[in-house]
Amino acid sequence: MGWGAGQSRRRVALHYGDETAVVRIHSGNGPHAEMDQRAITCFDQALEDVALTDEPLRQVLHDYFAWATTTTMSAYHHSADDVPEGLNIPRWSWDGLQD
Ligand code: HEM
Repeated sequence: MGWGAGQSRRRVALHYGDETAVVRIHSGNGPHAEMDQRAITCFDQALEDVALTDEPLRQVLHDYFAWATTTTMSAYHHSADDVPEGLNIPRWSWDGLQD
């Protein structure tokens, strides 16, 4: 059995921290809006569990995770092969997404 070429390429790229690779491992599973909302709820709960509750930090971390979950991680439901090469890592600031 072993890994197919695509999966092997994705694992190697992930090892080097490439944004395209991270988006690929979250792609190709069909739409999963309910799971996304549950993941955001879990993230918020985790922030409370580790006492990252001071504002504005809590809100900014929530906003980043909710944004990434519903945009970049949710853009390629059909196939991981649709994710383009060379995606940039999003830059998030106290004011949200930076260009
Ligand atoms: C900001 C949002 C997210 C980031 C940056 C992120 C990042 C990552 C990274 C780096 C991995 C690889 C870990 C490893 O192999 O050592 C991973 C795996 C995974 N993530 Fe996420 N993730 C995010 C959101 C989500 C959400 C919202 C879900 C589910 C709704 C999810 C489900 C998964 C699953 C199932 C895996 C394992 C995939 C596999 O091994 O094939 N992630 N994530």
